[in-house]
Amino acid sequence: MNEEIPQLPNYDESSIDAAFATLADEVRGETASRADVEAFRLRWLGRKQGRLKLISDAWLKSAPAEARKPLGMRFNQLKQQIEAALEKAAAAPVRPAAKAGIDISLPGSVRAPGIEHPLLKTMNDIVAVFHGLGYSTALGPQVESDFYNFEALNFPPNHPARDTQDTLVLAGQQEKPSRDRLLMRTHTSPVQIRTMIAEAPPIRIVVPGNVYRNEAEDATHLARFQQVEGLCVDTNITFSDLKGTLDHAMKSLFGSAVKTRFFPSFFPFTEPSADMQISCIFCAGAGCRKCKHSGWIELLGCGMVDPAVFASVDEVRLAQSKPAAYDPAKVTGFAFGMGVERIAMILHGVASAGTFYSNDMRFLEQFA
Ligand code: PHE
Repeated sequence: MNEEIPQLPNYDESSIDAAFATLADEVRGETASRADVEAFRLRWLGRKQGRLKLISDAWLKSAPAEARKPLGMRFNQLKQQIEAALEKAAAAPVRPAAKAGIDISLPGSVRAPGIEHPLLKTMNDIVAVFHGLGYSTALGPQVESDFYNFEALNFPPNHPARDTQDTLVLAGQQEKPSRDRLLMRTHTSPVQIRTMIAEAPPIRIVVPGNVYRNEAEDATHLARFQQVEGLCVDTNITFSDLKGTLDHAMKSLFGSAVKTRFFPSFFPFTEPSADMQISCIFCAGAGCRKCKHSGWIELLGCGMVDPAVFASVDEVRLAQSKPAAYDPAKVTGFAFGMGVERIAMILHGVASAGTFYSNDMRFLEQFA
């Protein structure tokens, strides 16, 4: 270790202070890591060639008598500083040398596995039940024309049936003919029309997707929500097929003990129309707060496809030079539509539909 011994220009207080400050800086700059702690100790504290010994020998040799004591004190302080640095380095945990900047001893970055959002999961579960029955998925646009959303589904312009679906319309549509005006679809039923125009029977489709209504939002009403629509058209399709299909689907979703029943209802595009109810899954039909003590929960709308719908479809098919394929004397069908939020609320005991859209991780993590 033949490093240069620093010069001490003078033995007055300020020169001594400055010289020791430089040495202290030097020690600090070298503060040893665990790996070379022994080299650091030898370099500074080695008994014969240690830097501290060499410097103190050099400086004390020519020191005037009165400077010996202050020099000695400062050498002691420097020694303590070096020893403290050594202790600290020795106490530091041993880390294997990092390779290419990666410290393999650090904990890995753990990513929580992603899950389907509970609404998407419910939607996929519903769709899967129908896939099991041979249905395929059909999709359609969320910005829809008045024709597909209303007119072809037998809601004539200005007909009061339109009031049942308070509609969000796009701006700047007044110049267009009524049927071409754009709106946010109020239900997934327009995809019935789009599919039948594109394809001849037999048809078995499920249509999952977003729908929009001008709702004052509360626990059970949202301006944007999700539906799953179903349509089955073939020869000899009867109301019994509708009942059997939906009864099977409800048992798949809610458990085999659940019962279904059908009440007369009205939709312009089905005739006859029905509301389907399931026996309350909370009280098994005995009556509780959730089913308003009726033992039944209303779940979806359904019915036999109205011949007027078939007529609209064939009219468009002919206009597009496709053969008419929906003669109500030859084909019949049923359709149904259900709200996904409502089903997810029942399945998971969630009181407010908005909770699904709150992006609250404490809520969502319960489904992981
Ligand atoms: N489209 C109807 C609604 O949103 C539900 C429905 C679909 C009813 C299919 C009958 C047949 O209210």
